[in-house]
Amino acid sequence: MRLTHHMLKSYSFLPSLKIAAGQAVALPTLKFSLDEGLSEVFSKRQLELHIHKHHQGYIDKINGFLKTHPAEKYGGMEIEEIARSLQNGGMFNQFAQHLNHSFYWSCLKSGGGALQSPHSVEKAINRTFGSFGAFQAQFNEAGLGNFGSGWTWLVADGDKLKIVNTSNAELPAETEGRAILTIDVWEHAYYKDFENRRADYLKEIWKVVDWPAVSENYDRAMST
Ligand SMILES: [Fe+2]
Repeated sequence: MRLTHHMLKSYSFLPSLKIAAGQAVALPTLKFSLDEGLSEVFSKRQLELHIHKHHQGYIDKINGFLKTHPAEKYGGMEIEEIARSLQNGGMFNQFAQHLNHSFYWSCLKSGGGALQSPHSVEKAINRTFGSFGAFQAQFNEAGLGNFGSGWTWLVADGDKLKIVNTSNAELPAETEGRAILTIDVWEHAYYKDFENRRADYLKEIWKVVDWPAVSENYDRAMST
């Protein structure tokens, strides 16, 4: 079954992630530079490897794939739509990882800092988890417990929030709700700086979470 835009619930707030007919896919515009980067948490080398080797590697494979497939088949399609239509396998992994990483970068900003009122997502966090601290503890526990490579997500399901783990390149199921935040828990996201200490990475990452962006994601999830 071909997915329609109407069915796309998880990421459809990232309109830039469409395949333009006949054009190559590229890294998304980042909110930080490699030099100034997210230095509260990552070294330049860690970010460079993650963006220009790992993320770029997925993009290169997508572009190789698009070269051998007719532009009219994928032109104008959302990356998520393509990923879900491919289901599992090699090319699903490339499209999904491009999507996951683009979303991850959009959730990070230098000085992201603490959640401040009056973001509406704050109320939802307090309503669901009791407090912001309890939410962070639960999220970090999920991230730490996500065995192997994967992603830990905050998902809006109606007016409730959920923490969801996925493995490898997988996206949250459409029935889980709308993704409003994701944290990459693949080792390649932190190994250069934190070695095997994923717990330390998860403790630090909150310094650069762009809460206004997450809140916007939440508002959009609530209104569409
Ligand atoms: Fe990654």
